[in-house]
Amino acid sequence: MRIARSIAELRLALAGAGRASFVPTMGNLHEGHLTLVRLAREFDTPVVSSIFVNRLQFAPSEDFDTYPRTFEHDCELLDGAGCDLLFAPPESELYPQPQTYTVLPPAALANILEGQFRPGFFNGVCTVVLKLLNCVGPCAAIFGKKDYQQLLVVREMVRQLALPVEIIAGETARAADGLALSSRNGYLSATQRNEAPALAAELRRVAAAVQSGAGGWPELEAAAMRALEQRGWRPDYVAIRRQADLGVPAPGSRPAGDEPLVVLGAATLGATRLIDNIEIAPAA
Ligand code: PAF
Repeated sequence: MRIARSIAELRLALAGAGRASFVPTMGNLHEGHLTLVRLAREFDTPVVSSIFVNRLQFAPSEDFDTYPRTFEHDCELLDGAGCDLLFAPPESELYPQPQTYTVLPPAALANILEGQFRPGFFNGVCTVVLKLLNCVGPCAAIFGKKDYQQLLVVREMVRQLALPVEIIAGETARAADGLALSSRNGYLSATQRNEAPALAAELRRVAAAVQSGAGGWPELEAAAMRALEQRGWRPDYVAIRRQADLGVPAPGSRPAGDEPLVVLGAATLGATRLIDNIEIAPAA
């Protein structure tokens, strides 16, 4: 695997190689990222990944400074998963001056759910993703469904700005006990790690209730929040939304074939905020 530290090196390495499939990351890689790299390998293209901890998507109160940087290990993992080229620019390369041109995604999609609890988060994500896409020029870019809203926000940016790249969704990788793999799982103590699958379990309970035709969706959401609270979590939201645009669905009916739903949740355990989601299969 080659490593490019600058945009010029990256473009040189890509010259004549054909357009790539691209997996952007912030490093501290785990099996979830490697699943995305393996998915990228299914395209008949070079596979490029990036490691860049993007300051723009962290609020001042968040963990930018302490976000785990595990570059050597990440390189071994990417190499083993079949990544051909890693773009790992220092901050001075990607943001040589304050990034005053930024992407402002639409409030209806970006200021709800994660955007409500992390104001400005998707501005930062969209700005860096647009810049990375411009650097790499891939034909396909892979984003995990674990960050469901991010996937939708990026897909809509690509559509509205007519960027010449296909956004591919990768399934969420989970531990055997159901916990969605996430870089932030590394912050959990052993006790918290045992408790952490409860978030996915609550979301699955809500999804199963909706799937089986239960009405009273706001009550289902509230009950899941209460259950998490009783277990010691501080939930931000549990929300039943449309898969297509994360809008609030017409309540109380089974998911229709043309309006598949997803249950999304975010909650903090100790000092670690986790997110997850479970898609609800449309009624037959
Ligand atoms: O999902 C992530 O790791 C980041 O949000 C991304 C897409 C690499 C942008 O910094």
